[in-house]
Amino acid sequence: MSKKLTIGLFGFGVVGQGLYDIIKTKNLNLEIVKIAIKNPEKDRSLPKELFTTDRDDILNNPEINTVVELINDTEAAFEIVSRALSSGKNVVSASKKMIATYLNELIELQQKHGTSLLYEGSVCGSIPIIRNLEEYYDNELLHSISGIFNGSSNYILSKGFLEGLDYASALKQAQDLGFAETDPTMDVGGYDAKYKLIIAAAHAYGVVIDPKDVLNVGIQNLSAKDLQYAREKNLKIKLVPVAKELDDRHVTLFVLPKFVNESEFLYNVEYEYNGVTVQAAFADQQFFFGKGAGGHPTGSAVLSDIAALRYNYAYEYKKAKADNNRLQFTNNVDINIYLRYEDEALVEALEFEHIHERFYSGSYKFVIGKVNLQKLIDNQQQIADTGAFVAFADQLSGVALAANKLQEAEA
Ligand code: HSE
Repeated sequence: MSKKLTIGLFGFGVVGQGLYDIIKTKNLNLEIVKIAIKNPEKDRSLPKELFTTDRDDILNNPEINTVVELINDTEAAFEIVSRALSSGKNVVSASKKMIATYLNELIELQQKHGTSLLYEGSVCGSIPIIRNLEEYYDNELLHSISGIFNGSSNYILSKGFLEGLDYASALKQAQDLGFAETDPTMDVGGYDAKYKLIIAAAHAYGVVIDPKDVLNVGIQNLSAKDLQYAREKNLKIKLVPVAKELDDRHVTLFVLPKFVNESEFLYNVEYEYNGVTVQAAFADQQFFFGKGAGGHPTGSAVLSDIAALRYNYAYEYKKAKADNNRLQFTNNVDINIYLRYEDEALVEALEFEHIHERFYSGSYKFVIGKVNLQKLIDNQQQIADTGAFVAFADQLSGVALAANKLQEAEA
């Protein structure tokens, strides 16, 4: 028998309203008791009595046993979720930045207070990836997880590549459709994808990584030249987070635009759709596909978590707790990149290990070759400031992600 959930909802934006619409159509054993909002002046589609601007009306209400947190403010979200978990309430959250930033603390709070925090809606909208990584792949060796984790960037890339729409107009559309973050740099700069990758990696590999340590390069500096180059090679450019096990002790994570070819599942993931490719030892390659942004798709994942709480579901973080988990995060790995640049100093600063191709024609200069991931991190600011465009280019050099530097260093 499922238990009745009495819910306090924080946030009534795109996802909050999407969730409410879905709940209305269901006959579940749950009730939304109160909704905490920031702006009391805004017109709401529901009775006034349901809303409050005082978070204590939910957090101190003993009648409420479940908190659903869908707000935009990372620090406020952490405070709300921590207080809820500490006072015996289970929580569902879709705040990816907050979860990625405070994952260790959140795991500890759940353990200490015997409460549960679920966050399927925080990674790839409607795609059920977290529970799969946590449960289904419990005993499977995962070589890598990669994909399209940010709907807004993918929407902008699709609009540009398929419809020739300029960047600013495509971004405006993504904002109007409710896909983009309040600060769209989070989307186009690869931050949002990075937070989601960090959450996914915790469940795939049992590693909890500080977002500051992970490279994120976005699509802001993508130019018509890069798109034309991709077209000529029958490739598309997508923003792709990658988590990869390099050997039985090391895992690496990064977010970079990537050239993808027709044979890759991600090639046909367009607009706000997301996709996750899992490369597993025995299952081989698998692909998850679905809408990654928007009120109803994300609301559906949030509802699935709420429904799971009716049966007291909690993540066990088995991989993180396993005594034999020796995996450590590293940036000491060589990757093949395409670098379009203006300033030769950047090429020098990146200290390419190997150059596969160089091209100069007027102002269009690029180099394809192998660099150490740490060098990209060290020069991240210079890449952004000089308008350079970097993409993961395993398709262009014919060489897969190389862990040789690491192995050499340890041999
Ligand atoms: N801004 C996010 C995206 C929303 O575009 O994917 C969903 O997390």
